[in-house]
Amino acid sequence: MGTLALSALKPGMRLSADVLDRNGRKLLSYGDTLSEQALRVLKIWGVTEAQVEGEGSEEASALVSEEIPSELYEAARRDTEHRFRHNDSSLLVIQELQKLVTLHLARKMALAQGRGDDPLALVQHDSPAKPAGKCPPPLDVQTLLRDDVKLGSLPSVFHKLVEVVNDSRSSATDVAEVIANDTDLVARLLRVVNSPFYGMTAKVDTISRAVTVVGSNQLVSLAMGISIVASFKGIPEHLVSMRDFWEHSIACGMAARILASYRRMPNTERFFVAGMLHDIGRLIMFKIAPDHSTHLFHTAYSEHRIVQQCEKEVMGFTHDRLGGLLLKAWRCPVSLEKNVRYHHLPGMAPTVPEAAIMCVADVVANAFRFGSSGERLVPVLSRETWDCLELPVSVLGQTVLQLDYQVSEIVRLMNVDG
Ligand SMILES: [Fe+2]
Ligand SMILES: [Fe+2]
Repeated sequence: MGTLALSALKPGMRLSADVLDRNGRKLLSYGDTLSEQALRVLKIWGVTEAQVEGEGSEEASALVSEEIPSELYEAARRDTEHRFRHNDSSLLVIQELQKLVTLHLARKMALAQGRGDDPLALVQHDSPAKPAGKCPPPLDVQTLLRDDVKLGSLPSVFHKLVEVVNDSRSSATDVAEVIANDTDLVARLLRVVNSPFYGMTAKVDTISRAVTVVGSNQLVSLAMGISIVASFKGIPEHLVSMRDFWEHSIACGMAARILASYRRMPNTERFFVAGMLHDIGRLIMFKIAPDHSTHLFHTAYSEHRIVQQCEKEVMGFTHDRLGGLLLKAWRCPVSLEKNVRYHHLPGMAPTVPEAAIMCVADVVANAFRFGSSGERLVPVLSRETWDCLELPVSVLGQTVLQLDYQVSEIVRLMNVDG
């Protein structure tokens, strides 16, 4: 059929060549079948045309599965089934996720085999050694909050940004001024703003220009997230690597931003920041209670339980509660605090669809193993949580497609290792 303009592309058509955005990043692959969501993604990223080979209803996944040795596909399927053990597999959304995760994993295994690596290493999870000594007694979260050790660990620019956000009289110039005073933050921020994720047509080389093109609210949100990334050092590596932790957080933020834009929610940047900070409570746990954290992981992994569901009995509180309380103590915007507080319990949030976006984004980041904040299994996604978003399940595949192309790039640009 050849090259067609975007306006002539229809769901069901199959691509005969990869589709690239204006920066040369791949958005869709040869063989993918177009969906309504895929067409919307092409529009968002400014694609004007694509090459299609004709109509077809075959799923892109069928093409992929043909290339994957059946034993690898089967190993991926079993691993996926294990990791979704706390989810209800009779739900359409869980079935879709399991199918996508299996293919995603099987494809990675086939690539590993092609490189001469052991593909089964991707589905083997070592059992953690039993920690020496007894677990210390659970901690009291209010006592922890009164102790200002962790509050003092935040960079001063973060507090200044919060002040700007909370002051209705502050202007775009105030925003630019606060950011411009921190040269490390400026460098990280401009790298991210110039990444394909933002789809800028021209290079943004100053903060005042970034305020104009990204918007001051969005830029403050992004700056808050980035300034936090730079401030956490010294977490014991045996609990989690900082790179894995931020990769998980960034993937959750990117997924939340994408889902929020599919649902046409305003100021999608705040979802990116909420994703970056959603597990901050766990990072604080690792820092102030490493012994409890070692016991926490041992309990969860050896009993095949979800880590969050073991936290109350081992730590005395959950990471989502601690995260929400910390953001409140740090005087962050209420919507940020609530979206972090309720990312595992969206039904209890004051704005259920917003917290539901966080919950789905976290499930996606965990399910497809974009980094890790310590969880090995896939957290629970309930029917109510998914249904309240009123999105078709096909957005999940489109979301993962964008994450695959962009998470590692954003991780690199944010320079999470130092
Ligand atoms: Fe979490
Ligand atoms: Fe998470």
